[in-house]
Amino acid sequence: MENRRIGVLISGRGSNLQAVIDGIAAGRLEAEIAVVISNRANAAGLERARAAGIETLHIDHKRYPSREAFDLAVVAELKQRGVSLVCLAGFMRLLSAAFVEAFPNRILNIHPSLLPAFVGLDGQRQAWEYGVKVSGATVHVVTPELDAGPIVLQAVVPVRDDDTPDTLAARILEEEHRIYPEAIGIMLAGGWRIEGRRFIRRATR
Ligand code: GRF
Repeated sequence: MENRRIGVLISGRGSNLQAVIDGIAAGRLEAEIAVVISNRANAAGLERARAAGIETLHIDHKRYPSREAFDLAVVAELKQRGVSLVCLAGFMRLLSAAFVEAFPNRILNIHPSLLPAFVGLDGQRQAWEYGVKVSGATVHVVTPELDAGPIVLQAVVPVRDDDTPDTLAARILEEEHRIYPEAIGIMLAGGWRIEGRRFIRRATR
């Protein structure tokens, strides 16, 4: 992918956004964040973006008559800025098919479990309650089905007997911050393909 402009969508804290900002600043990730968009005005991540000199937009989903209308407003802003990759980073809205079709295989999400286990909200607590011995984080390409697209990277995090959902989530978050910038770099570098559900990084000849 020649164009290294990305758009990041958030709803809250923005620690994964910060990891991407830091990765770019440190020269580990060759990318430019063209815009950070939040559906919530008070998302702490907006402050992080402003502090890094990145353009921010608040697009309030409650002002739109439908999910699709909101999504198309977001898509229009992303397209206007020429972004080639959209990174969901704690964006708490389901994406309509219209959004996904506007950026086919060009949307990434980070999820705090080893998919396909524990989809949806609070993946860390779901894993802790289930009693699995390992959990982790997954970066995947976004498809219209929730948390179900081709997997780009995963990281494993052991679950300790003395973990609480919070301590487990904190260790998973460290791995999220490591693998999200890395996965964005992989996507932007190009040379990958998708076969069925499988994301294949490069030709294996
Ligand atoms: C992370 O746990 C991420 O995996 C999930 O939402 C959380 C966002 O955290 N999708 P932050 O806003 O990046 O700090």
